[in-house]
Amino acid sequence: MKIILVLCIFMYIKPVEPNTHLIYLYLQTASALRYSTEMIPVYKTLAVSVPKPFVYMVKLNRPEKLNAINPIMWKEFKECFDGLSLNPDCRVIVLSAAGKMFCAGIDLQGMMEMGQNLAKYEDIARRCKFLEPKIKDYQESFTAIEKCSKPVIAAVHGACIGAGVDMISAADIRYASSNAYFQIKEIDIGMVADVGTLQRFPKIVGSDSLVRELVYTARKYPATEALKSGFISLMLDNEESLLNKSIEIAENIASKSPVAVQGSKMSMVYSRDHSVQEGLDHIAMHNKAMLQSEDFLNAVMAQAVKGDPPIFSKL
Ligand SMILES: *[C@@H]1O[C@H](CO)[C@@H](O)[C@H](O)[C@H]1NC(C)=O
Repeated sequence: MKIILVLCIFMYIKPVEPNTHLIYLYLQTASALRYSTEMIPVYKTLAVSVPKPFVYMVKLNRPEKLNAINPIMWKEFKECFDGLSLNPDCRVIVLSAAGKMFCAGIDLQGMMEMGQNLAKYEDIARRCKFLEPKIKDYQESFTAIEKCSKPVIAAVHGACIGAGVDMISAADIRYASSNAYFQIKEIDIGMVADVGTLQRFPKIVGSDSLVRELVYTARKYPATEALKSGFISLMLDNEESLLNKSIEIAENIASKSPVAVQGSKMSMVYSRDHSVQEGLDHIAMHNKAMLQSEDFLNAVMAQAVKGDPPIFSKL
């Protein structure tokens, strides 16, 4: 009897076999983050740096091409934001650009190459089959900003045209220097914007009338007007003060509980696209777990005793 009992217990606690699935998942994640020695990923079209602890700077880095988005950049952009979403050393991302302007839009050379590939097909159905996944991939590149669990601050200097507007419309916060202007340029090249501007821009800017005017005319929308209509929330004198301010705000956000910051982003993105009741249900589901996180206790205690700001663990 005793032996059977011992045997039962032994069987119950027998060592777990190595979980190959978990190991695979770990390797996959590690390679997605593309850790270099300092855990800063390296890309051809983006320059990633860490100006302050927990603050990552992602710079569009094709200055000689005015940061036009080519096929490599579309791909790397998604990889970069997907990686930072999981990187516990990153709490906030500042999205900026190298060179004299933020972004000239889609790289027309890349478009031309796509046109040549498209010409291989005669039939409209086959052409559509070729194009649809391309468009969706491009959409996913910018949706990666929104799906990224960390807040993204877009810091725009100079021109931000076409796909550049689609890009920053997916950011959490937008700041610009006074020389910045935006242009929803797609109409001028005979196409409908298809990577996020028409879906996100109207939800940021309150005036439907202004949105439609900007879309139909493709006119320049200067920083002062963007500030007045709420597309940007801050305008700085020059590029340097723009970057300084963006990093300063990022540092502030990075000092808060990452559980609270990431949960807030998730809830705001969800609630934008759902009813009030659905949003409330969603956050109730989330918070019934997250209110039990150590962050909640630590932050409440720190507020109560008005002591040093609390240090939060990586997330
Ligand atoms: C930006 O920050 C740097 C480094 O902290 C500082 O030297 C510089 O004066 C700042 N520039 C402006 C315009 O605030």
